[in-house]
Amino acid sequence: MSIRLPIFRKRKQKENDQSTLTNIPRHVAIIMDGNGRWAKRRGLPRAAGHKEGMETVKKVVRQAVEYNIEALTLYAFSTENWKRPKTEVEFIMKLPGEFLHTYLPELIDNNVQVRTIGDLTPLPEHTKEAIHKAIEQTSTNTGLVLNFALNYGSRAEITGAVNQIVKEVADGQLSPNEITEDYISARLYTSHVRDPDLLIRTSGEVRISNFLLWQIAYSEFYFTDVFWPDFDEEQFKLALLEYQNRKRRYGGI
Ligand code: FPP
Repeated sequence: MSIRLPIFRKRKQKENDQSTLTNIPRHVAIIMDGNGRWAKRRGLPRAAGHKEGMETVKKVVRQAVEYNIEALTLYAFSTENWKRPKTEVEFIMKLPGEFLHTYLPELIDNNVQVRTIGDLTPLPEHTKEAIHKAIEQTSTNTGLVLNFALNYGSRAEITGAVNQIVKEVADGQLSPNEITEDYISARLYTSHVRDPDLLIRTSGEVRISNFLLWQIAYSEFYFTDVFWPDFDEEQFKLALLEYQNRKRRYGGI
């Protein structure tokens, strides 16, 4: 009996996990933070943290597919990240190509649609090529929308939308009373996805860092001390379990 009991418990736990995950967020957005600190703790260069972070991206995407999550938005590079040392920026810019080189066939098999949010214009050509190829080859897929936020900044995004709208009004194509919340949402990079239901940030930092400021108005937030490279299947499940307990009222009672 003493040998069989732990086995029984383990199986029971698994059944419970599956049955309690009934309220899956439809759109999960993640601020993937802590790669540098993860590496430093191991006496490794920061690049090693980013590389391991890329492995976490694969795990999280697989899990999102498994849970039938509709959209996953990952903050990979912000408009402010250009301030980092040139070698680090160059390293991060190689990751999308490396990631997609090994992982694109699996994304295609899993019916994932690759998309981006942000201004890709200043990205190196090799980064843009890899991304455009992935977007094109997954464009007819109908499963998980995998949004990479690259050179993304929420204030720049909102400023762009305002400029566009002002121009439409000035050109006489739009009347000011037609400017609704939906009209503004439709002019953001995220017009192809609903607003995030759950926003996760790893590494113990408790801030938003110019990420999806408009879109997270009613999102649930989940902060964890775990560094992004250590954010494994168990950690993602913990975030989803926590989301089960949230009561979303959208300002109501
Ligand atoms: C934040 O950690 C991480 C980044 C700015 C880069 C994120 C990139 C990845 C996770 C890999 C992306 C993979 C693909 C496929 C695009 P940090 O460097 O700010 O860590 P720190 O706060 O500990 O210094």
